[in-house]
Amino acid sequence: MGFPIVRARRLRSSETMRRLVRENQVTVDDLVYPLFVTNGEGVNNPIASMPGVSQMSVDVILRECDEIVNLGIPAVLLFGIPAYKDEKGSSAFDENEAVQRAIKAIKEKYPDLLVIPDLCMCEYTSHGHCGILDEKGNVLNDETLSVLAKIGLSYAKAGADMVAPSDMMDGRVGAIREALDANGYSNIPIMAYSAKYASGFYGPFRDVAESTPQFGDRRGYQMDPANSDEALKEVWLDVEEGADIVMVKPALPYLDIIRRIKDEFQMPVAAYNVSGEYSMLKAAAINGWLDEKRVVMEALTGIKRAGADIIITYHAKDMAKWLREGQ
Ligand code: PBG
Repeated sequence: MGFPIVRARRLRSSETMRRLVRENQVTVDDLVYPLFVTNGEGVNNPIASMPGVSQMSVDVILRECDEIVNLGIPAVLLFGIPAYKDEKGSSAFDENEAVQRAIKAIKEKYPDLLVIPDLCMCEYTSHGHCGILDEKGNVLNDETLSVLAKIGLSYAKAGADMVAPSDMMDGRVGAIREALDANGYSNIPIMAYSAKYASGFYGPFRDVAESTPQFGDRRGYQMDPANSDEALKEVWLDVEEGADIVMVKPALPYLDIIRRIKDEFQMPVAAYNVSGEYSMLKAAAINGWLDEKRVVMEALTGIKRAGADIIITYHAKDMAKWLREGQ
């Protein structure tokens, strides 16, 4: 009888050996934590469909940022729940609104924490769509661009470190870039939601952001989940218009898209591990069906392995804690 033939398994023989040959590792530096800012004071409204996530007023957000900074998370992505909504989304560029005040307050107290406002109209329009509508309810592309540019400028004035357009209108990166450059903000990068799919996984987010379309859906501007070549085209257009970071959203059902984009474009790629992806794991963990730490670490490592440099995730604080414990 010969010796047992061990080929691949010899590099898995101990944790130290596995550490030595490990190819991909999520670090705290990769993480962005989304926050939902609302008006008022002392407000902390937990969201039933996203355990651990709340709408918070600016004062509460500041306390939250203290924890985020202490955990070493480099950036937050801000979403606003405005005091008023209209057809044109005017509250999106109102300097007294929650997001603008939050940007100022966070930058004052935590100058090193990167503040990235999500740039879109859907939380601010009475109809819940991501742009200006015609009389039939279709989103008008070019009319929307000037509003997006105006919102971008108001975030830059408030002190944002970067802006992240998530509307999927054609030409928005160029329009925002032009407005920023013309007003002395050429140093502010754009992280574009380039390959954003019309996904059912945004359901819980729409509860938090109160941004469910009042009629119809977003399939006229967000991408068809069945397509992959189209994602490369979207990225190509955004890069041409000046995007500094391109994003794929959601993350887990679209790992192949992340990989194709990373292979094709040698530039920073972000992945948005969205609300529904978070809620699924959270619900299973709460029921005791899955080991939360294990599956979250596995999911985020999968996103990194697919090629993401940046991971936007509601798990960021937990992940940062687990990574710290592991050291
Ligand atoms: C705004 C926006 C959405 C998300 C981020 N920006 C919702 C949507 O497009 O309906 C989703 C984020 C999440 O589900 O966590 N356009």
